[in-house]
Amino acid sequence: MGKWWKKAFGYQIYIRSFKDSNHDGIGDIRGIIEKLDYLSYLGINLIWICPFFESPMDDNGYDVSDFYNVSSDYGDMSDIKELIAKAHQKKIKIIIDLILNQTSDEHHWFQESRKSKDNPYRDYYIWAPPRIIDGKQTEPTNWASFFGGSCWEYDQQTNEYYMKIFSRKMPDLNWKNPKVREEIINIAKYWLDLGIDGFRLDAVAHLGKSELIDSTYQTSEKYKPEWEKYSNLPIVHDYLRELNQKVFSKYDIVTVGEVGGRALVEDALLYVSPKRKELDMVFNFDHNWCNNGWNRKKGEKLKINVPLMKEIFNKWQSGLQGKGWNAIYWLNHDQPRVASHYGDSEYFQESVKMLAVCMYFMWGTPFIYNGEEIGMTNPKFKSIDDFKDVSIHNQYRINVLENKQDPDDFINQVSYSTRDNARTIMQWSNEEYAGFGKAKPWNMINDNYPVINVKDEIEEENSILHFYRKIIDIRLNSEYNNVITFGKYQQLAKEHSQMYLYLRQYRGKKILVICNLTCEKVKMDELGYKIKKIILSNYERKEVPFEFASYEAIVLEVE
Ligand code: NOJ
Repeated sequence: MGKWWKKAFGYQIYIRSFKDSNHDGIGDIRGIIEKLDYLSYLGINLIWICPFFESPMDDNGYDVSDFYNVSSDYGDMSDIKELIAKAHQKKIKIIIDLILNQTSDEHHWFQESRKSKDNPYRDYYIWAPPRIIDGKQTEPTNWASFFGGSCWEYDQQTNEYYMKIFSRKMPDLNWKNPKVREEIINIAKYWLDLGIDGFRLDAVAHLGKSELIDSTYQTSEKYKPEWEKYSNLPIVHDYLRELNQKVFSKYDIVTVGEVGGRALVEDALLYVSPKRKELDMVFNFDHNWCNNGWNRKKGEKLKINVPLMKEIFNKWQSGLQGKGWNAIYWLNHDQPRVASHYGDSEYFQESVKMLAVCMYFMWGTPFIYNGEEIGMTNPKFKSIDDFKDVSIHNQYRINVLENKQDPDDFINQVSYSTRDNARTIMQWSNEEYAGFGKAKPWNMINDNYPVINVKDEIEEENSILHFYRKIIDIRLNSEYNNVITFGKYQQLAKEHSQMYLYLRQYRGKKILVICNLTCEKVKMDELGYKIKKIILSNYERKEVPFEFASYEAIVLEVE
């Protein structure tokens, strides 16, 4: 089919924080409808909307209690239908989350499943009896959950544990059970028949679990974070081929898998090689932690680990090209804001614009995350009440309440990486509640909304927003469209410790992307190419400089 998605520019919407149309403090579907004009103005042509299904919202909708209904927080089915129709009129495609690994514990399948060992829904989930070790009742394995603690939860009713690799309110589905697979297939068909254009497949790497044998990891933690026990196992590919054959291949859609749990390029290729008929592309997480963040001393500034970041980009770009398709992105709703993570507050505009150049001229379908296009930053967390993420509250319970970690230390430690960083309210204007709605929002608003907001950046000619618009326009609508979409990627000056350079070439056209990933000025020798044109520059250069300024980025047509 058309493979339209190769020429797409995606935009991820965290619906709860995006735009509140009915003034109840929660973003909603009609809020997205209101902002379709803005999205067209930005220039994107694909949106990924985070879950809006019925849910008790333990994990903001990744805990679904009814896959066939819209949460009343967000609207109803008629709103979704209207959104699909209006977006399509504007040539914007829509993908949604297909949540495959788990349901909410309030889903009726689980309500049934936990009733008795012979309930017809028992095998929809993964149950196992307790072990007795040293006379004490213990979980079936010592595996950790991604959200802290054990990946098992005890259920008194039947004296067994159920698996939950995320929160205790999110029991894992048992994919070995063909009935479960059939249910998911029906859910996928239902949404595709409503007219959506594809899926982001949530936590897809984790559908297969290995045998229930203890991890032998030598760590001091009680529960061992050996994610390989339930990540990227061969059986996942069988499940995906079945989904592909029975559903995906029957529609002209795109599928993007989220492959966490330390996926390698080799793993990714198994998901995205077209001949294997599984997925179109995957999101990997390799580039998400390329700085001194985890082990920096108090007061030390965050700094990009340039060699590591370059190596990772190169590995994924070169490793997949010609063999499958790629997805490129800086962050999603599970990572810190890129402007805070890799940007530099002293050179804010320059560094944020440079990061955009660095990423979005690479090969693959880009996805920006709402607010990234205006340079939204991490907020300041002052107390545990500022956090909304269930995983932070789990860790707080274990580290502070049970193991007596100093609460301030804890907050300092998690502030850098918490998923809440990306989930603050979208900053539309400098009006009350940042223009999100007329009621107090469900989550924090970053204090900097009076200076970082969409309205002001539309008016400001040199804003980050306009810079993003230029990149999107060059990528989708200019004479460079094909070279950026299909061009071969080649890294240059591989060993350079500050500069990241890459060439893209396609049918005689060549573009060269040059980024200074540091605040230091850098002199570069002859580039080795004849410059035809400056396509984009974050310092508004009319000529290529001999010395590159702090965080300078320049895109050239060369021959
Ligand atoms: C990945 C999602 O991006 C994340 O937000 C969620 O908590 C887990 N999967 C569980 O669904």
